[in-house]
Amino acid sequence: MKRLGNVFTACLGTFALLLCLYSVEGEYCKVNLCHNGGTCVTGVGEDPFICICADGFGGDTCNLTEIGPCNPNPCKNDGSCEVISPTRRGDVFNEYICRCQPGFEGMHCQINENDCAKQPCKNGGSCRDLDGDYACQCPSPYVGKQCQLRCISLLGMEGGAIVESQISASSVHYGIMGLQRWGPELARLNNQGVVNAWTSATHDRNPWIEINMQKKMRLTGIITQGASRMGTAEYIKAFKVASSFDGNNYVTYKADGQRRDKVFVGNADNDSTKTNLFDPPIIAQYIRIIPVVCRKACTLRMELVGCELNVYSNTAGCSEPLGMKSRLISDAQLSASSTYRTWGIDTFTWHPQFARLDKAGKTNAWSPAHNNRSEWIQVDLEKTKRLTGIITQGAKDFGVVQFVSVFKVAYSNDGELWSTVKDEKTGNDQLFQGNIDNNAHKKNVFEPPFFARYVRVLPWEWHERITLRMELLGCDD
Ligand SMILES: *[C@@H]1O[C@H](CO)[C@@H](O)[C@H](O)[C@H]1NC(C)=O
Ligand SMILES: *[C@@H]1O[C@H](CO)[C@@H](O)[C@H](O)[C@H]1NC(C)=O
Ligand SMILES: *[C@@H]1O[C@H](CO)[C@@H](O)[C@H](O)[C@H]1NC(C)=O
Repeated sequence: MKRLGNVFTACLGTFALLLCLYSVEGEYCKVNLCHNGGTCVTGVGEDPFICICADGFGGDTCNLTEIGPCNPNPCKNDGSCEVISPTRRGDVFNEYICRCQPGFEGMHCQINENDCAKQPCKNGGSCRDLDGDYACQCPSPYVGKQCQLRCISLLGMEGGAIVESQISASSVHYGIMGLQRWGPELARLNNQGVVNAWTSATHDRNPWIEINMQKKMRLTGIITQGASRMGTAEYIKAFKVASSFDGNNYVTYKADGQRRDKVFVGNADNDSTKTNLFDPPIIAQYIRIIPVVCRKACTLRMELVGCELNVYSNTAGCSEPLGMKSRLISDAQLSASSTYRTWGIDTFTWHPQFARLDKAGKTNAWSPAHNNRSEWIQVDLEKTKRLTGIITQGAKDFGVVQFVSVFKVAYSNDGELWSTVKDEKTGNDQLFQGNIDNNAHKKNVFEPPFFARYVRVLPWEWHERITLRMELLGCDD
């Protein structure tokens, strides 16, 4: 009897309560869920039942009235329907054409074109075809939607644009009775002189040197060099790299798809330079070099390679859909606090993987098991991105209009420590105005944008049930 509440809602007003209770067990068509004389059929395909509608009616439960060939819209994937001649021929409406969105083709826009066919990715980028879009995976140091930009500026260790106060270290080695200071400010590529590099103190078991770039930058590589001290070559043979946005929480660099920290191969003598690329690039304000294996001592001269983040100078230039609709964001990247099942039926589970903007079908959105303010849906973007906005949309559960009318947004870089997007003026959690119906797109912008790998939407107020389809907007840097 656990399902009583749900079944009652589904049947109320149309059928006798007794009949409705019967429908729970066994055949779903014992109670005809189809309106307007529609015929209920069980066991067809994946759905427990489908409705075959009487003339002039459409929709999942036949309670939509057909008004001409374009209503309900027969075109898939957001194609728009145009009536050519509104006459009816026999039982079939076929006097319309579908105008497809870019990336789709076919009579009903049902065919997803190969968006990679025109080879949009430059400079060796590899292309992935998405629903109506493509994504380029760029080899470092190339960036941008089509890998068209090169991010290879020398950031100023050698040139001096990075000043002394931006460079710090875990410890410093003092040579010759404390007279020679091998300080971090000396760790500049090709630095000359008798004392010309940073060396960590002999007793330092966890040495590091850190550069504070003073703002978030995109780093695509590092050039390292050792030095010679009293006729002996000293250098770092292997090192790790860690980075941080705030100087408190650090993430150790890992190569794409790898779980273990990346160990970079460093130098092999006192003077040659060694270049390592960060692929993918690091977006951070603080970058830390952590020696792992040193020859004689951990001694370093270095340069950072990268570029400013303002490739997209404003929010307007950084508002690409990040891939809810196009499926660049895979199902595995989506999770939620819980999921709801209509009438307790597994086939009608409202998975977080369904929360894709404009998703079609009977169950076509995310809905949680409970309707309260502890529920959330999460997107793991797999790498840090700049987030500039969100589009939300409700859905219908068998004709019932449902949507989230107010929500909060939280974000995180590790999936554990979360920050809520704040209202700039009041400092309180920002309440975003969501939807007012089941279908219209509602867009909200994040001002200022934020950087994050994980994003959560926290429903705050809703109509009927918490029900959400969405898209995140932003760009790679
Ligand atoms: C350091 O490098 C220079 C140039 O390669 C070389 O001539 C010199 O012998 C090296 N010194 C030591 C101590 O290895
Ligand atoms: C939300 O509902 C669940 C299940 O009923 C409950 O465990 C949780 O404490 C509720 N949270 C709030 C904030 O009411
Ligand atoms: C369709 O039926 C549902 C109940 O199953 C009802 O809530 C909804 O308002 C109906 N829609 C229309 C357009 O009649």
